Amino acid sequence: MSLNASRSWYERASRVVAGGVSSDVRRSEKPFPLFFERGEGPYIFDVDGNRYIDYVLGQGPLLLGHSPRQVIEAVHAQLDKGLIFAAQHPQEVELAELICQVVPSAERVRFNSTGSEAVVSALRIARGARNRRLVIKFEGQWHGWYDSLFVSTSPPLDKAGPREAPIPYMQSRGQVANAVENLIVLPWNDLSLVEQVFAGRGDEIAAVLTEPIMINAGAIMPQPGFLEGLRRLCDQYGALLIFDEVITGFRVALGGAQAYFGVTPDLTTLAKGIAAGFTLSAVVGKAEFMDLVSRGEVAHAGTYNSNPVVIAAGLAAVKCLAADNGKIYHHLFAMGEMLSNGFRTILRQAGVPAIVNNIGPVVQVCLTDLPAMRDYRDYARRDVARYDRLVTELVYRGVRTISRGTWYISAAHTAEEINRTLEAFAEALTATMV
Ligand SMILES: Cc1ncc(COP(=O)(O)O)c(C=O)c1O
Repeated sequence: MSLNASRSWYERASRVVAGGVSSDVRRSEKPFPLFFERGEGPYIFDVDGNRYIDYVLGQGPLLLGHSPRQVIEAVHAQLDKGLIFAAQHPQEVELAELICQVVPSAERVRFNSTGSEAVVSALRIARGARNRRLVIKFEGQWHGWYDSLFVSTSPPLDKAGPREAPIPYMQSRGQVANAVENLIVLPWNDLSLVEQVFAGRGDEIAAVLTEPIMINAGAIMPQPGFLEGLRRLCDQYGALLIFDEVITGFRVALGGAQAYFGVTPDLTTLAKGIAAGFTLSAVVGKAEFMDLVSRGEVAHAGTYNSNPVVIAAGLAAVKCLAADNGKIYHHLFAMGEMLSNGFRTILRQAGVPAIVNNIGPVVQVCLTDLPAMRDYRDYARRDVARYDRLVTELVYRGVRTISRGTWYISAAHTAEEINRTLEAFAEALTATMV
């Protein structure tokens, strides 16, 4: 298998595109950042003509697979009618209505383009609603790369301070120094620590921001009662509960993780699953809070917000997901179960200690000798070097996956692709042992 064309594009790119990639996370692609030509269903094709079963899926958005027909047709139809109006149009209302029907916390919607924007919007609404400054965020959770939140997403353990009181860690040079002063960073899944912080500073805390399933660091499920406990504490101290469902929204259920767990936040951010790969995001929430935006008391804007092309994509995508009472989720969950069970069997038979987490169409493989993972620090102890080798060996066997251990599945993946993936996984694992 040759990667020569990719290699020469990467060299050429590195002279003009900073670092050869347009988003830092792409640096970690194995064995080096590859170049692609097209995608189709569960497959992606690189510039050397290699075909891969794709589990990166654009880092999550391609819930319906590459270039799903219904979405492409809806977008084609819109392209002839106009790209951007900087004005209102009927389809944005239809999509907002649909979101309000299926996402429990959604009574009002505002559209943005990226997940980062939606999260920043949610924080502004929460701070505006309560006139308070502090937000609790959890170590290891990624809410985008903006200054105000790019804190303790993957802190080196020797700089992270004690587990019970992490030192907020700025991830980048150049971030404004006071970013950390507005946040309280805590380990995820430890309700008693959240309780202690509220008991001490409850009247200063505007919001608790959390991914309801910690997909970005281990696809770790909340401990029983954790999300319910956050809901109770927020109610008790008058803080807003914000679920960042940029990944889990539409992916783990039509109504997101909040529908799956039956815990309703005040505000929610949605992005990756909403528009089948087009750049659409939304902040949604209870009218009581979103109406600060309705009345113009909290500002929200954006040139590209709700442009008719991405809205056409979003409307078509959400309709696909909602069709036949969300029938598509049976398939997505079955494929996730098949992949994760297969991984567990292969790893056990090979005697490789690992944790395989699964929630519907998200699977996570961590090579670790821990019996279970509860928070970022557990996740950070995995065997990164060996997993990197595994991901590289998989590339050479036609399987593309994310080096942090997450496997996204789309509705286009069938048992045939899963079986071929499991065969490749078993071979690749053996190759890492020599
Ligand atoms: C949970 C979560 N929130 C927010 C973001 C930021 O989204 P974007 O990259 O579209 O700005 C991401 C991106 O991966 C995410 O996973």
